[in-house]
Amino acid sequence: MSEITTPRELFLHELGDILYVERALADEALPKLIGEVQDEEFRSGLERHLEQTRRHVANVESVFESLGEEPETEPCLGFEGLRKEHDKMVEETASGLIDLVDVGAAARTENYEIAAYESLRRMAKGLGEEKAVELLDANLKDEKETLREVEKIATRLSNEHAKQEATA
Ligand SMILES: [Fe+2]
Ligand SMILES: [Fe+2]
Repeated sequence: MSEITTPRELFLHELGDILYVERALADEALPKLIGEVQDEEFRSGLERHLEQTRRHVANVESVFESLGEEPETEPCLGFEGLRKEHDKMVEETASGLIDLVDVGAAARTENYEIAAYESLRRMAKGLGEEKAVELLDANLKDEKETLREVEKIATRLSNEHAKQEATA
């Protein structure tokens, strides 16, 4: 027997999935990254995104409330995969290259969140849940802006590291 049989149930399941991701980012993953990185612009960007991520958690909880539901998390296997991959990369990589590893991990995570919010806002729209669409759009906008910033920093760091290599 399928547990999820209606579009609304599927929406709530996926909402629980992104709530799991946002809480894990706010409580564990972003503070950990902030502790790892050396580059100041990257670190202050992550600190800013940690503040935003706390708002993302509250917004997703508000989406549940707007539907008359209790916020409930679903363990997100996609995010756990990204997290495991990152931890393994950090173990295997020289300390001078950790910022490059972390900027890649940040970009992967933002792309994952963007895909999740695009899909959630589409489902909310289909269900006629306008308040939910508005809240999801607010998070989506932050994720897209953050991805652009991360990509800019990634380009600069890649060029700097390549130059260091060339002059070494
Ligand atoms: Fe987020
Ligand atoms: Fe994010």
